[in-house]
Amino acid sequence: MVSLFKRKTKQKWALNKPLQHVAFIMDGNGRWAKKRLLPRHLGHQAGINRILEIAEACQELGIRVMSLYAFSTENWKRPQEEIDYLFEYLDVFFKREIDHLMRDGVQVRTMGDITRLPEKTRITVNEAKELTKNNKNFVLNICLNYGSRPEIVKAAQDFAKDVSLGKCQIEDLTEKKFLDYLYSVDLPEVDLLIRTSGENRLSNFMLYQLAYSEFIFTPTYWPDFDKKHFIKCLELYQHRNRRFGGLKNE
Ligand code: IPE
Ligand code: IPE
Ligand code: MG
Repeated sequence: MVSLFKRKTKQKWALNKPLQHVAFIMDGNGRWAKKRLLPRHLGHQAGINRILEIAEACQELGIRVMSLYAFSTENWKRPQEEIDYLFEYLDVFFKREIDHLMRDGVQVRTMGDITRLPEKTRITVNEAKELTKNNKNFVLNICLNYGSRPEIVKAAQDFAKDVSLGKCQIEDLTEKKFLDYLYSVDLPEVDLLIRTSGENRLSNFMLYQLAYSEFIFTPTYWPDFDKKHFIKCLELYQHRNRRFGGLKNE
């Protein structure tokens, strides 16, 4: 049996294959609740309560960034009651955990247009971002009212504006420069994407950023996805051969 993790110090474990940024499509909250004959919103509550365990596992393993798809631009199609509960649970989460996040040196970031969020949650999220902005240990990047297509369209518009203002030339736009116009601006490349609940699609998540990421689709519903499931995904990742278009290097 190949050892997947090597000991760095007495407490700390590190992955053998570099992994700086892991992204999750946290799916299956509704089905988790339905299976238990509970209202869907309790699935969202249970799902939000999973976040810290996985974030802490990331920190133990030396992963620097965790991105979470929490609400898509398409999720506004859902019943208003479900949406209200979900944002209420997010509000509770940040209010309850802000001291914990500060203590651990976690920086809270968001992707997506959060101006459309209910006012209370928007204020809480903005406060968490402001308070944690200088933290350096770990990035918790929550995608709220996020859709990759609107993000790319906005990036194109913002670049066009900069050209029309004379700040740059059309020729200045490279693949790398384009990244500066995305919400993910200074985050490292996504190494691994995990989608829970058995759905095998991206649902408008990070289309540009995931070009060379490894994908893992697991049947587990997000509220059931714990550290053990995460470690299993990391074991799979450890055996992936990332070629980036080049030749096999292991
Ligand atoms: C993911 O769980 C959370 C959001 C999309 C907001 P779902 O609510 O999509 O759960 P399922 O897919 O219906 O089970
Ligand atoms: C994707 O899940 C969005 C989030 C997890 C926030 P959905 O449940 O909205 O995706 P579809 O509708 O199954 O594609
Ligand atoms: Mg879903």
